[in-house]
Amino acid sequence: MRPTVITGIRLASMREDAAPYGLVEDAAVAMAEGMIVWAGTRSDMPDALRSAESVDFGGRLATPALIDCHTHLVFGGNRAREFEMRLTGASYEEVARAGGGIVATVSATRGMSEDALVEGALQRLDRLIGEGVATVEIKSGYGLTVDDELKMLRAARRLGQCRPVRVKTSYLAAHAVPPEYRGNADAYIDEVVLPGMEAAHAEGLVDAVDGFCEGIAFSTDQMRRVFDRARSLGLPVKLHAEQLSNLGGAKLAASCGALSADHLEYLDEAGVAAMAAAGTVAVLLPGAFYTLRETQLPPLAALRREGVPIAIATDCNPGSSPLASLLLTLNMACTLFRMTPEEALAGVTREAARALGLSAETGTVEAGKRAEIAVWDVEHPAELSYRIGFNPLHRRIMGEFE
Ligand code: NIG
Ligand code: FE
Repeated sequence: MRPTVITGIRLASMREDAAPYGLVEDAAVAMAEGMIVWAGTRSDMPDALRSAESVDFGGRLATPALIDCHTHLVFGGNRAREFEMRLTGASYEEVARAGGGIVATVSATRGMSEDALVEGALQRLDRLIGEGVATVEIKSGYGLTVDDELKMLRAARRLGQCRPVRVKTSYLAAHAVPPEYRGNADAYIDEVVLPGMEAAHAEGLVDAVDGFCEGIAFSTDQMRRVFDRARSLGLPVKLHAEQLSNLGGAKLAASCGALSADHLEYLDEAGVAAMAAAGTVAVLLPGAFYTLRETQLPPLAALRREGVPIAIATDCNPGSSPLASLLLTLNMACTLFRMTPEEALAGVTREAARALGLSAETGTVEAGKRAEIAVWDVEHPAELSYRIGFNPLHRRIMGEFE
């Protein structure tokens, strides 16, 4: 197939070896069969590509297409009522203990068909795609029976067939103890989480195994049992850790070679060191921090000092982060966490790809990666983080260029 070359772009390739932003003025990117075959300064382009069909983008900015590496996009109902309760003084944990929270979404999700779940999630997915997202991670975790977890994962897989987007699934049955197992988390793990994992894996529905390690959810010992089974099936693991308190979840995750540990407001030095040693990505979720009015900041300075890769994501879910905008997430990461716009953009491209085990395929614009590119009506990449409620996407390129 003949290559197509895009020109008239300022390129922020986000290559790690080319700070800041991997910026290339007057760049060109050549693609063929869905792959990037060459990227660089236009005047350096090999002669063989000069006669290729080319499309001029009039000086716009091109970046890697965005990656939302932590979402709960598939769910039933909404939790606006709980939002009201929190505004009159109840904490996230109090709402959860009173039978609201995750468990309220569980009953709504159990009551919905796979078709209805797909339809509901498409609204949110389309918002993400409309902001240049080409890869989205989607978790189960609101079914909490074998059948309902499978239903959620099938819905997630179908989303990837309904739209030109890459979906990576995470099996999150260890998200909450359902009411029928209250006080009996170990039995829930034995009777639902582990057999459900085997069934979902046998159906090809699981790309990774996730959990929620917290006082209102599962202990590190319980998560270790879940991770041991995941690893025996050859599945990568990740964990919601240190969101509301410090149970040492990130350390456990790192010791299991986790792709990522997520949230991390209460992460301590030992956790940072363990993540650095294991190469586990820190996925920070400013939408949840904002919604829950958390005041404990994730330990950015320590993560930077130890060289822990940092990604950011929407955590789109009906409770702690009803957020379907990755661009707003960039702004929140900068304003709330004091991340730089360059760190934030890396967090939804290169580092988000790393958090999903996709570094070889996507996350930067360079030869050998998939042709997944976002073209923006902005001059400088910092503008993507700076504006609020503004979507400058001009065009999203996903594989083939038509
Ligand atoms: O990532 N922390 C646990 N899970 C979700 C919240 C899910 C919910 O409240 O429905 C999170 O914040
Ligand atoms: Fe989450």
